[in-house]
Amino acid sequence: MGQPVKPLKVAPSLLAADFTRLGEEVKDVEGAGADLLHLDVMDGVFVPNLSFGPVVCQAVRNVSSLPLDVHLMVTNPEVLVEPFAAAGASRLSVHVEAVTHLHRLLTKIGEAGMVPGVALNPLTPLSSLEEVWPFVGFIVLMTVNPGFGGQSLIPQATEKLARLSEIRARVAPHVELVVDGGVTVANAPALRQAGADTLVAGTAVFAATDRRLAIAQLKGGA
Ligand code: DX5
Ligand code: ZN
Repeated sequence: MGQPVKPLKVAPSLLAADFTRLGEEVKDVEGAGADLLHLDVMDGVFVPNLSFGPVVCQAVRNVSSLPLDVHLMVTNPEVLVEPFAAAGASRLSVHVEAVTHLHRLLTKIGEAGMVPGVALNPLTPLSSLEEVWPFVGFIVLMTVNPGFGGQSLIPQATEKLARLSEIRARVAPHVELVVDGGVTVANAPALRQAGADTLVAGTAVFAATDRRLAIAQLKGGA
């Protein structure tokens, strides 16, 4: 019954890792089936929290061959494009709410050798993507207010994802949809059904007793 459901990619968010053992944590989720690694960069201005910058990205690059998916939650992302390219980032997303000259910035990210992405806060309308599609490889749909790991997914976000997926199918089928925030094994099937290609999961992976099983369940294969 219904549409065949494609397997998801899972991107563990390193924010939920044990930072005293970051190298081991990275190796562990890589061995457990992670498809890419999600790095949350916070500046204490765009979001009420601070995390880490290019130095940590470089350290992760040194121990992993997985693609590094860097999510910039900062007010002035322009200045971080080259430092993250140099630190081995594979993909770089910026918040549509934080940027005035989005075309220039997305072009700069691509020219620096990374895949450009755009992230949307929970109540930012999908119409803000209307001109963006030709210039991105992926969209990050925030399903919590950015700033912290371990929050609960905002229920209305699943229906927003379904609308985003419908638009994507019409205007830019090659663009990947990434869901970020409050993803769990319990809500993953609904997110998959609503059109997610990639699930970012911090707590759901790093706090799991069996991370391999958690990743397999998030993907829908266990
Ligand atoms: C929130 C971050 C998320 C977060 C996800 O600001 O963008 O990537 O780390 O963590 P969980 O999966 O625990 O909600
Ligand atoms: Zn994130």
